[in-house]
Amino acid sequence: MGEIVRLQKYIAMSGAASRRKAEELISEGRVKVNGSVISEQGVKVEIGADKVTLDNKELKVKDKKYYIMLNKPVGYVTTVKDQFDRPTVIDLVGDEINARLFPVGRLDYETEGLLLLTNDGDFTYRVTHPKFHTDKTYIAVIGGGVSIQGMSALRKGVRIDNYTTSPADVTMLDASAGKTTIKITIHEGKNRQVRKMFEAIGCKVIALQRIQIGQIELGNLPLGRWRHLTSHEVNYLMNG
Ligand code: URA
Repeated sequence: MGEIVRLQKYIAMSGAASRRKAEELISEGRVKVNGSVISEQGVKVEIGADKVTLDNKELKVKDKKYYIMLNKPVGYVTTVKDQFDRPTVIDLVGDEINARLFPVGRLDYETEGLLLLTNDGDFTYRVTHPKFHTDKTYIAVIGGGVSIQGMSALRKGVRIDNYTTSPADVTMLDASAGKTTIKITIHEGKNRQVRKMFEAIGCKVIALQRIQIGQIELGNLPLGRWRHLTSHEVNYLMNG
Protein backbone atom coordinates (compact mmCIF):
# COMPACT_ATOMS: atom_id res chain seq x y z
CA MET A 1 0.00 0.00 0.00
CA GLY A 2 1.31 3.43 -0.92
CA GLU A 3 0.93 6.65 1.03
CA ILE A 4 -2.63 8.05 1.17
CA VAL A 5 -2.97 11.79 0.54
CA ARG A 6 -5.66 14.31 -0.34
CA LEU A 7 -6.21 14.80 -4.05
CA GLN A 8 -5.04 18.43 -4.04
CA LYS A 9 -1.84 17.37 -2.29
CA TYR A 10 -1.30 14.63 -4.86
CA ILE A 11 -1.64 17.18 -7.67
CA ALA A 12 0.81 19.52 -5.92
CA MET A 13 3.25 16.65 -5.33
CA SER A 14 3.14 15.80 -9.04
CA GLY A 15 4.36 19.32 -9.79
CA ALA A 16 1.31 20.17 -11.96
CA ALA A 17 0.02 23.02 -9.76
CA SER A 18 0.17 24.56 -6.31
CA ARG A 19 -2.25 23.14 -3.73
CA ARG A 20 -4.55 26.17 -4.01
CA LYS A 21 -4.54 26.01 -7.82
CA ALA A 22 -5.17 22.25 -7.56
CA GLU A 23 -8.37 22.95 -5.60
CA GLU A 24 -9.55 25.17 -8.46
CA LEU A 25 -8.72 22.51 -11.03
CA ILE A 26 -10.76 20.02 -9.00
CA SER A 27 -13.76 22.40 -8.74
CA GLU A 28 -13.57 22.99 -12.48
CA GLY A 29 -14.04 19.24 -13.05
CA ARG A 30 -10.71 18.83 -14.81
CA VAL A 31 -9.39 16.11 -12.50
CA LYS A 32 -10.28 12.43 -12.68
CA VAL A 33 -9.46 9.59 -10.30
CA ASN A 34 -9.53 6.16 -11.87
CA GLY A 35 -11.54 7.54 -14.79
CA SER A 36 -14.22 9.40 -12.78
CA VAL A 37 -14.38 13.19 -12.50
CA ILE A 38 -13.91 14.32 -8.89
CA SER A 39 -15.16 17.86 -8.32
CA GLU A 40 -15.49 17.93 -4.53
CA GLN A 41 -12.54 18.66 -2.24
CA GLY A 42 -11.06 16.29 0.29
CA VAL A 43 -11.11 13.03 -1.65
CA LYS A 44 -8.14 10.83 -0.74
CA VAL A 45 -5.99 8.85 -3.15
CA GLU A 46 -3.31 6.24 -2.74
CA ILE A 47 0.05 7.01 -4.35
CA GLY A 48 1.07 4.28 -6.77
CA ALA A 49 -2.39 2.66 -6.79
CA ASP A 50 -4.91 5.31 -7.92
CA LYS A 51 -4.69 6.85 -11.38
CA VAL A 52 -5.06 10.63 -11.32
CA THR A 53 -5.44 12.69 -14.50
CA LEU A 54 -5.62 16.41 -15.24
CA ASP A 55 -7.30 17.21 -18.56
CA ASN A 56 -6.96 13.47 -19.27
CA LYS A 57 -3.19 13.51 -18.83
CA GLU A 58 -1.86 11.25 -16.11
CA LEU A 59 -0.13 12.89 -13.12
CA LYS A 60 2.57 10.79 -11.50
CA VAL A 61 3.99 11.00 -8.00
CA LYS A 62 6.79 8.92 -6.61
CA ASP A 63 5.82 7.07 -3.45
CA LYS A 64 7.61 8.61 -0.50
CA LYS A 65 10.16 6.37 1.15
CA TYR A 66 10.37 6.12 4.92
CA TYR A 67 13.36 4.99 6.99
CA ILE A 68 12.72 4.55 10.67
CA MET A 69 14.65 3.40 13.73
CA LEU A 70 12.65 1.78 16.56
CA ASN A 71 13.74 0.76 20.05
CA LYS A 72 11.87 -2.56 20.19
CA PRO A 73 10.79 -3.73 23.64
CA VAL A 74 10.64 -7.41 24.64
CA GLY A 75 7.19 -8.88 23.88
CA TYR A 76 6.71 -7.59 20.32
CA VAL A 77 7.01 -9.71 17.19
CA THR A 78 9.05 -8.49 14.25
CA THR A 79 6.35 -9.06 11.65
CA VAL A 80 3.63 -6.98 10.08
CA LYS A 81 0.86 -9.31 11.36
CA ASP A 82 1.15 -12.09 13.93
CA GLN A 83 -0.74 -15.37 13.56
CA PHE A 84 -1.32 -15.43 17.34
CA ASP A 85 -2.36 -11.76 17.47
CA ARG A 86 0.58 -10.74 19.63
CA PRO A 87 1.61 -7.07 19.45
CA THR A 88 3.86 -6.30 16.48
CA VAL A 89 6.59 -3.73 15.97
CA ILE A 90 4.33 -2.04 13.41
CA ASP A 91 1.78 -1.35 16.19
CA LEU A 92 4.47 0.77 17.89
CA VAL A 93 4.80 3.08 14.88
CA GLY A 94 1.06 3.88 14.93
CA ASP A 95 -0.73 5.56 12.03
CA GLU A 96 1.39 8.67 11.79
CA ILE A 97 3.01 7.11 8.73
CA ASN A 98 0.67 6.40 5.88
CA ALA A 99 2.73 3.74 4.18
CA ARG A 100 3.20 0.01 4.46
CA LEU A 101 6.33 -0.39 6.54
CA PHE A 102 8.30 -3.60 6.84
CA PRO A 103 10.89 -4.55 9.43
CA VAL A 104 14.45 -4.69 8.06
CA GLY A 105 15.64 -8.08 9.29
CA ARG A 106 14.35 -9.30 12.62
CA LEU A 107 14.79 -9.41 16.36
CA ASP A 108 13.44 -12.26 18.49
CA TYR A 109 10.26 -11.76 20.52
CA GLU A 110 12.40 -11.67 23.67
CA THR A 111 15.16 -9.41 22.25
CA GLU A 112 14.99 -5.63 22.55
CA GLY A 113 16.74 -2.76 20.87
CA LEU A 114 17.55 -1.29 17.49
CA LEU A 115 15.27 -2.31 14.64
CA LEU A 116 14.98 -0.54 11.28
CA LEU A 117 11.69 -0.25 9.39
CA THR A 118 11.12 0.95 5.83
CA ASN A 119 8.90 0.72 2.77
CA ASP A 120 11.99 0.66 0.52
CA GLY A 121 12.85 -2.86 -0.68
CA ASP A 122 16.28 -1.77 -2.01
CA PHE A 123 17.22 -0.48 1.43
CA THR A 124 16.13 -3.76 3.07
CA TYR A 125 18.20 -5.70 0.55
CA ARG A 126 21.27 -3.55 1.13
CA VAL A 127 21.10 -3.86 4.92
CA THR A 128 20.13 -7.54 5.20
CA HIS A 129 21.83 -9.34 2.31
CA PRO A 130 24.79 -11.34 3.70
CA LYS A 131 27.07 -10.25 0.85
CA PHE A 132 27.18 -6.69 2.25
CA HIS A 133 28.31 -7.90 5.72
CA THR A 134 26.52 -5.25 7.75
CA ASP A 135 27.82 -5.69 11.31
CA LYS A 136 25.39 -5.87 14.21
CA THR A 137 26.33 -5.16 17.81
CA TYR A 138 24.52 -6.56 20.85
CA ILE A 139 24.72 -6.36 24.62
CA ALA A 140 24.16 -9.86 25.97
CA VAL A 141 23.58 -10.60 29.64
CA ILE A 142 24.68 -14.14 30.47
CA GLY A 143 23.56 -16.11 33.52
CA GLY A 144 26.73 -17.01 35.46
CA GLY A 145 30.27 -16.55 34.24
CA VAL A 146 31.93 -16.70 30.82
CA SER A 147 35.36 -18.33 30.61
CA ILE A 148 38.39 -16.92 28.81
CA GLN A 149 38.28 -20.01 26.57
CA GLY A 150 34.62 -19.30 25.78
CA MET A 151 35.41 -15.69 24.85
CA SER A 152 38.24 -16.76 22.56
CA ALA A 153 36.05 -19.43 20.92
CA LEU A 154 33.49 -16.72 20.06
CA ARG A 155 36.31 -14.58 18.65
CA LYS A 156 37.48 -17.40 16.41
CA GLY A 157 34.04 -18.66 15.35
CA VAL A 158 31.82 -21.40 16.79
CA ARG A 159 29.67 -24.14 15.29
CA ILE A 160 25.93 -23.39 15.31
CA ASP A 161 23.58 -25.70 13.42
CA ASN A 162 25.68 -26.65 10.37
CA TYR A 163 27.56 -23.41 10.17
CA THR A 164 30.74 -21.90 11.60
CA THR A 165 30.25 -18.25 12.56
CA SER A 166 32.77 -15.73 11.34
CA PRO A 167 35.07 -14.19 13.97
CA ALA A 168 33.13 -11.93 16.34
CA ASP A 169 34.35 -8.93 18.33
CA VAL A 170 33.71 -9.73 21.99
CA THR A 171 34.27 -7.50 25.04
CA MET A 172 33.38 -8.27 28.64
CA LEU A 173 31.73 -5.17 30.11
CA ASP A 174 30.86 -6.43 33.56
CA ALA A 175 30.93 -9.57 35.66
CA SER A 176 29.03 -9.42 38.94
CA ALA A 177 26.23 -10.94 41.02
CA GLY A 178 25.98 -14.19 39.07
CA LYS A 179 25.82 -12.62 35.64
CA THR A 180 28.16 -11.39 32.94
CA THR A 181 27.53 -8.58 30.48
CA ILE A 182 29.18 -8.89 27.09
CA LYS A 183 29.28 -6.67 24.03
CA ILE A 184 29.42 -8.73 20.86
CA THR A 185 29.59 -7.68 17.21
CA ILE A 186 28.68 -10.28 14.59
CA HIS A 187 29.13 -10.04 10.86
CA GLU A 188 26.19 -12.15 9.70
CA GLY A 189 22.60 -12.54 10.85
CA LYS A 190 21.59 -16.17 11.27
CA ASN A 191 18.40 -16.97 13.11
CA ARG A 192 18.92 -16.54 16.92
CA GLN A 193 22.62 -16.32 16.18
CA VAL A 194 23.82 -14.62 19.37
CA ARG A 195 21.82 -16.96 21.64
CA LYS A 196 23.12 -19.99 19.72
CA MET A 197 26.71 -18.74 19.82
CA PHE A 198 26.58 -18.50 23.61
CA GLU A 199 24.84 -21.88 23.78
CA ALA A 200 27.77 -23.29 21.78
CA ILE A 201 30.16 -22.25 24.56
CA GLY A 202 27.83 -23.56 27.28
CA CYS A 203 26.29 -20.21 28.31
CA LYS A 204 22.73 -18.98 28.51
CA VAL A 205 21.66 -15.52 27.35
CA ILE A 206 19.17 -14.08 29.84
CA ALA A 207 18.74 -10.68 28.16
CA LEU A 208 19.69 -9.44 24.72
CA GLN A 209 19.67 -5.95 23.28
CA ARG A 210 20.83 -4.78 19.84
CA ILE A 211 22.57 -1.42 20.12
CA GLN A 212 24.11 -0.90 16.68
CA ILE A 213 23.73 -1.79 12.98
CA GLY A 214 26.89 -0.90 11.07
CA GLN A 215 27.75 2.55 12.47
CA ILE A 216 24.12 3.39 13.25
CA GLU A 217 23.58 3.55 17.01
CA LEU A 218 20.40 3.21 19.05
CA GLY A 219 21.68 6.00 21.30
CA ASN A 220 19.21 7.27 23.88
CA LEU A 221 16.00 6.59 21.95
CA PRO A 222 13.52 5.49 24.67
CA LEU A 223 12.18 1.93 24.68
CA GLY A 224 9.10 1.58 22.45
CA ARG A 225 9.77 4.88 20.62
CA TRP A 226 10.86 5.53 17.04
CA ARG A 227 12.46 8.26 14.97
CA HIS A 228 13.20 8.93 11.32
CA LEU A 229 16.74 8.14 10.22
CA THR A 230 18.68 11.19 9.07
CA SER A 231 19.54 11.38 5.35
CA HIS A 232 23.15 10.88 6.40
CA GLU A 233 22.23 7.60 8.13
CA VAL A 234 20.18 6.41 5.14
CA ASN A 235 23.04 7.20 2.73
CA TYR A 236 25.52 5.42 4.94
CA LEU A 237 23.38 2.26 5.15
CA MET A 238 22.64 2.33 1.41
CA ASN A 239 26.23 2.80 0.35
CA GLY A 240 28.25 1.30 3.20
N1 URA B 1 20.66 -12.97 17.83
C1 URA B 1 19.71 -13.56 18.57
O1 URA B 1 19.93 -14.61 19.15
N2 URA B 1 18.51 -12.97 18.66
C2 URA B 1 18.20 -11.80 18.06
O2 URA B 1 17.09 -11.29 18.18
C3 URA B 1 19.21 -11.19 17.28
C4 URA B 1 20.42 -11.81 17.18
